[in-house]
Amino acid sequence: METADIFSVSDKNVLITGSSRGLGYNFARGFVQAGADVIINGRDEQRVRKAVQKLNKFQGAAFGYPFDVAQKEQVEQNISLIEKEVGRIEVLINNAGIQRRAPLEEMPLADWQEVIDVNLSGVFIVSQCVARNMIENDSGKIINITSLNAEGARPTIGNYCAAKGGLKMLTRSMAAEWSKYNIQTNAIAPGYFATDMTEELREDEEFDSWVKQEVPLQRWGDPEELIGAALFLASKAASYINGETIFIDGGWRASL
Ligand SMILES: NC(=O)c1ccc[n+]([C@@H]2O[C@H](COP(=O)([O-])OP(=O)(O)OC[C@H]3O[C@@H](n4cnc5c(N)ncnc54)[C@H](O)[C@@H]3O)[C@@H](O)[C@H]2O)c1
Repeated sequence: METADIFSVSDKNVLITGSSRGLGYNFARGFVQAGADVIINGRDEQRVRKAVQKLNKFQGAAFGYPFDVAQKEQVEQNISLIEKEVGRIEVLINNAGIQRRAPLEEMPLADWQEVIDVNLSGVFIVSQCVARNMIENDSGKIINITSLNAEGARPTIGNYCAAKGGLKMLTRSMAAEWSKYNIQTNAIAPGYFATDMTEELREDEEFDSWVKQEVPLQRWGDPEELIGAALFLASKAASYINGETIFIDGGWRASL
């Protein structure tokens, strides 16, 4: 095999959860441009349809399947439809995620639960369903989108930090259990990136200058700067990388 080919994801079926906007949409664009067939997901049917329309201008193909990752029945129905209509899911990117902010002493149980349900249990539900088919085919790649907050906590997002920390260990558990079926599971942990999720933070002058001061690269990440790592982890080039988390944080964790 030519060296260039080991990075190819061309013609692979890639399911990206929460990909109608933000980092997920950005991953989707990267994979479609690299010639993959990408399955777009989100809860809002119209947004999913719009994202598919935009992506179908590029080299690969995009398909839309709206469902809630935290609803087991919806997940099972849709995964089985995808496998029938698009084909076997070869790469799964667990990207869907939410935030509900409040100090821990005031956080409503419902906000705690919702974040754990989507950001952690949702990954378990979707991965279990997809992995059963990957196991049957003795191959697959799973990429979980965790966060800098899997290691470093910040006030008002205790639910989010707990979920992302849990997801880091779920990534290792998947690697420990599913490697024997030739499934490699890894995680990408972004630092602070400019998306809808972080819009409020970017508009807060104090927070914005704190980020620029703490990150050695002195700026927010551009979502495009995550694509390369995802393409790499989904390709043959990463076949012996397993259970790892790649932090993409502009050097934040490297500096004091
Ligand atoms: N933006 C950042 O700086 C940053 C940093 C670290 C980690 N992350 C993580 O990256 C991922 C994407 O974040 P983003 O900034 O693009 O957020 P975003 O809010 O812009 O997009 C989130 C996407 O997830 C979808 N989604 C939410 N709940 C869902 C559910 N129950 N079922 C299906 N889809 C659902 C939304 O429809 C949306 O498409 C999240 O897991 C987030 O925690 C983001």
